[in-house]
Amino acid sequence: MSHISNIDVSNGDRHEGRSDAVDEFLAAIEVIAEQHRPSRMPFFSNLATLDHTTAGDPSLLGQIHLVYQAAMHATRAAVYYLPHLDSPAMRKRKLQIFVDDDGLPGGDTHHYQLTRAFRGIGAKSVLDDEAFAEPAELCCHLDGEAARFVSLAKPLYSQSLGPWCAIEVLSADWMRALADALSVHFPQFADEPYFAECFSEMVEERHAEESLSITQMVLRARPELLPATIEGAKVIAEALDGVWTHLDRIVQTAGQGCAAVTEPA
Ligand SMILES: [Fe+2]
Repeated sequence: MSHISNIDVSNGDRHEGRSDAVDEFLAAIEVIAEQHRPSRMPFFSNLATLDHTTAGDPSLLGQIHLVYQAAMHATRAAVYYLPHLDSPAMRKRKLQIFVDDDGLPGGDTHHYQLTRAFRGIGAKSVLDDEAFAEPAELCCHLDGEAARFVSLAKPLYSQSLGPWCAIEVLSADWMRALADALSVHFPQFADEPYFAECFSEMVEERHAEESLSITQMVLRARPELLPATIEGAKVIAEALDGVWTHLDRIVQTAGQGCAAVTEPA
């Protein structure tokens, strides 16, 4: 069952009826949510079953933090460039999304929370928090699918609302999968505020509903945006799969290094 099955996608339609563009958009997002469900990717199960000593290696945890934080950073920064939402009412709704990521009590942010969660399990950070800034510079510290995702996020988010919807619809699934995988090695990991507050307040489920609701309103008024909206959602979902593939390669390389040390020649 796809995550979207649990989301009330009808919020924006109750009083106005569905349009063909809205129906087609929701059907496409549901397919994307099913085909690109992050927890199906081997990275999460391979991380969970990794040798415990290897999983606790500060360098490995630092690499995982770098790639995951870079991908999250890219989407958090890209949200500020969403198009078609410039009316006062839409700006208010966008602002709430910004606040959920970057306006936490006491000046905290999801970015800082995530770094603390990884440092709490011993990760040796590759970059300082404030070095997560311009995509081009950040990509100097990345390669492969991770660099591709980071470089795509801002242009895709600024072209249509589709990428935002795809990421928000998939996010609760990958956060749960990551928390579950690392909790095998670090049982307290899922209690970190980055995860615990998100899960208890269903922040990502709310973001998914909000992104879909807003996009339905936009498509009802401007159905000609449908093709670009769906295409953008597909492209970022494929790029996100790449992030998990990249992370899995890091985990497998670490696992092979462990095997080379522990197995007789
Ligand atoms: Fe979100």
